[in-house]
Amino acid sequence: MTATVNPLRAGIRLGPTAEPCVIVIFGATGDLTRRKLLPALYRLAQQHLIPAEFAVLGVARQQMSDHEYRAKMREALTEFGDEDTVDEAAWTSFAGGIFYIAGEFTDTEPYTSVRSRLKEIDEQRKTQGNRIFYLATAPEFFGLIANQLAQANLARPEGRAWARIIVEKPFGHDLESARALNAQFAAVFEEHQIYRIDHYLGKETVQNLLVFRFANSIFEPLWNYQYIDHVQITNAEAIGVEGRGAYYEGAGALRDMMQNHVFQLVSLIAMDPPVSLKSDDVREEKVRALKTVRPIPPDLVGEYAVRGQYGPGQVLGQTVDGYREEPGVDTQSSTETFAVLKIKFDNWRWANVPFYLRSGKRLQKRVTEIAIHFKEVPHRLFTDSDAPLEPNVLVIRIQPNEGITLRFGAKLPGQAMRIRWVNMDFRYGSSFGVKPPEAYERLLLDCMLGDSTLYARRDMVELGWEIVAPILDAWKTTAFDFPNYEAGSWGPPIAFEFVEREGRHWRKL
Ligand code: BG6
Repeated sequence: MTATVNPLRAGIRLGPTAEPCVIVIFGATGDLTRRKLLPALYRLAQQHLIPAEFAVLGVARQQMSDHEYRAKMREALTEFGDEDTVDEAAWTSFAGGIFYIAGEFTDTEPYTSVRSRLKEIDEQRKTQGNRIFYLATAPEFFGLIANQLAQANLARPEGRAWARIIVEKPFGHDLESARALNAQFAAVFEEHQIYRIDHYLGKETVQNLLVFRFANSIFEPLWNYQYIDHVQITNAEAIGVEGRGAYYEGAGALRDMMQNHVFQLVSLIAMDPPVSLKSDDVREEKVRALKTVRPIPPDLVGEYAVRGQYGPGQVLGQTVDGYREEPGVDTQSSTETFAVLKIKFDNWRWANVPFYLRSGKRLQKRVTEIAIHFKEVPHRLFTDSDAPLEPNVLVIRIQPNEGITLRFGAKLPGQAMRIRWVNMDFRYGSSFGVKPPEAYERLLLDCMLGDSTLYARRDMVELGWEIVAPILDAWKTTAFDFPNYEAGSWGPPIAFEFVEREGRHWRKL
């Protein structure tokens, strides 16, 4: 039988293979390593996207042998990977390159051990002195580990070998701490060695924004204030804080989602065409767009942002607790689990086009989308039609049901001139017939390839904090009557009033 080839995939180059290297994971027994990093690395190896000359060196507090750590990672793969696709022979060969060191991140000893162990691994696995240090720890250790690596002479390798460092989020807690952390990193690593992760950039649909905008000629001429009325970005989650109450209490929706993930989406929609696809050219344009975001006046924060916190309710048929009842959360907490933000750009392309952004937990369902609302037709010709004229909307669905939909008016068949609103639909799943790779697979591979396009640059992170700074300050000092929305709803009534007072409506999702 001949295998059927999906014509949409025919001729697509699957991409380059990474160079030999060792990835040193700090926080090697943590949730992120087990849920995301290890399964992603295994998948890359299974697809031959990383070479045989590759190794993982885990570092964490717990005492364990290499053998025990391998067993632990095998369990993680069963729990969080795609067990059906795990091939025992492939795992055994991959696991042969997994090593472990126990130690406290605050001591100097583990770093000396990392250094000597890396030498041995280089010989054994032929990894050529190339290293990635992955900081999958609590954020308070980020700066400290970077320093210790430098003290141990691990930050600047000799000869042709390279060293890169991946930093997880949150990158800072506010503008000041982000600047301080950036300065700490810059003292020991060069900017081109630093990879600040934002897993939204690893999502296939987010990367598609560049292709959609700049590989097609029909949208770009419309992509400005002349044709676009406003942009809505919704990031709705059905889940709550999932046992991370203690972290979330100090974060809130603005820090946890808006300042990083949602702003990445904003910049990809708002940016001008980059001069090339080189990492710095793409990142430069994203930064240039964010630089023109109109600063929010501290005394007018209420006009630009509103917040919410969920109380108990029903989500997807399940009764759930309110935020204040979650473990690790203050019973009088004033942390927001929902935020709406309006931003405007002081630039030619987006003059007076508001971007409405909303992000929240325990909403009715999980959906992340970008909706571009076009202006109405300049002259209403179909005044006698029974359906009111609606503007065109282009919806880019980031997750789930990834795809793109364009809504337009069509004549209802029959004698009369009646209009109905219909959709032109592209769905990733049915068009390409393949499951998109996990965000972490793409991001880890890019780092091994030395490509930082899908990582946040220093100035981008700081700009994000700068934009939200007045809101964080205002919300810190003003109390709010929480909870103000029921779990399973679409957020507090003020979120609706916020856009309605400007004559607009949130899309029904
Ligand atoms: C993380 C946040 O960065 O992103 C979480 O800390 C959030 O609170 C998660 O749930 C959402 O990611 P995704 O990929 O499920 O949309």
